[in-house]
Amino acid sequence: IGPDGARVFDLEMRAGTADLGHGPQTRTWGVNGDYLGPTIRAARGDTVRINVDNELGETSTLHWHGMHLPAAMDGGPHQLIETGQRWAPEWTIAQPAATLWYHPHLHGATAEHVYRGIAGMFIVDEPGGPDLPSEYGVDDIPVIVQDKQFRDGQLDMSPALFAEAGVLGGDVLVNGTPAPYLEVTTERVRLRLLNASSARSYRFVVAGTATVDLIGTDGGLLERPHRVDHVQLSPGERAEIIVEVAAGTTAVLRSEPPELGLNFWTDRFSGGDDTLEILGLRAVDNLAPSPGPPPVLAAPRDLGEPATRRELTITSSSTINGRTMDMERIDETVTVGTTEIWEVRNATGDPHNFHIHDVQFQILDPEGPLQSGPKDTVYIRPGQVVRLLVRFEHYTDPATPYMFHCHLLAHEDRGLMGQFVVV
Ligand code: C2O
Ligand code: CU
Repeated sequence: IGPDGARVFDLEMRAGTADLGHGPQTRTWGVNGDYLGPTIRAARGDTVRINVDNELGETSTLHWHGMHLPAAMDGGPHQLIETGQRWAPEWTIAQPAATLWYHPHLHGATAEHVYRGIAGMFIVDEPGGPDLPSEYGVDDIPVIVQDKQFRDGQLDMSPALFAEAGVLGGDVLVNGTPAPYLEVTTERVRLRLLNASSARSYRFVVAGTATVDLIGTDGGLLERPHRVDHVQLSPGERAEIIVEVAAGTTAVLRSEPPELGLNFWTDRFSGGDDTLEILGLRAVDNLAPSPGPPPVLAAPRDLGEPATRRELTITSSSTINGRTMDMERIDETVTVGTTEIWEVRNATGDPHNFHIHDVQFQILDPEGPLQSGPKDTVYIRPGQVVRLLVRFEHYTDPATPYMFHCHLLAHEDRGLMGQFVVV
């Protein structure tokens, strides 16, 4: 806590070496450590100040994915942190409880900086929220899922020849740990699933004597829990699930072949055939009691009536509406305090998703419970149009844009991104 009452967090981005399952000498990047970064946890209403020191030896940025905040604090490609320098954004958290995350956003190098290891979770709590498992590391567990490819003991991010989506690895790390398991000591555990991979989508299932209730999506809790048999997340998306594993048994969180809506060939080279073991869940014999998810989790959101409709078409793996990202061009200007419909179309044959900074939108015509909650990132299969109800609030800055882009990081880096200002 700083003298002005702000909650102060110190983050140092630095290079190191880590054992990611291929020997101890894998060169990595991390935040306050060798690989990934600490979980930041703060509550709605808190003013946070984050001292970000860049000791990487090259320029980077640090973006707060999913956070509603002034554009100058966003950590996008305009908020450069030169090596040896400190950037200290500050804002007041003005959104519901959610599982957010942070990662670099240097234009053209986001995939590389995330792949090397700069990423972490940012948990927002809400005072007076529903009674849910929330003891960090005991029954409230971050699950940062990344696929990796190694060559000679080093991280290798060269994509396979036909992998239009970007690099896909056969090794899965959870929170930087290969072949991980969790000792489950309570009747229910809350897993905060984050797909922090560059290109791969996961279709999470829990195999074993277990049940899964979906309680939250990117930007917060659903109105009510939904019993589900799978949760599919494309890069950048999150889900919160409550898992109940029978005492004395082992279950496994696994990824089954995701449904990407691609043709046979593209599907195969986008990971559409892959089954991956993610996390073992070993329940002890005597589980401590924990409450089930309450029937009501959150009040319905009212984003208001849309005043404007915008059409954004993904026209290739590097263009939206036929244009590649230009740092000097503002693509869209929106008015603060208004609601819009963004119609985003995937006019290509490849997998894409779509992320908007600063907001949590509502998907009109949601496909399943995962799309019914507050979202900032959504998968769009070839030929599909998603309609997003988006409300822009509080912060204006005609000079500093927010980004919208595909979160398959190779596409983002190639320019499948645009900029909007709120005025
Ligand atoms: Cu997670 Cu613009 O990013
Ligand atoms: Cu894409």
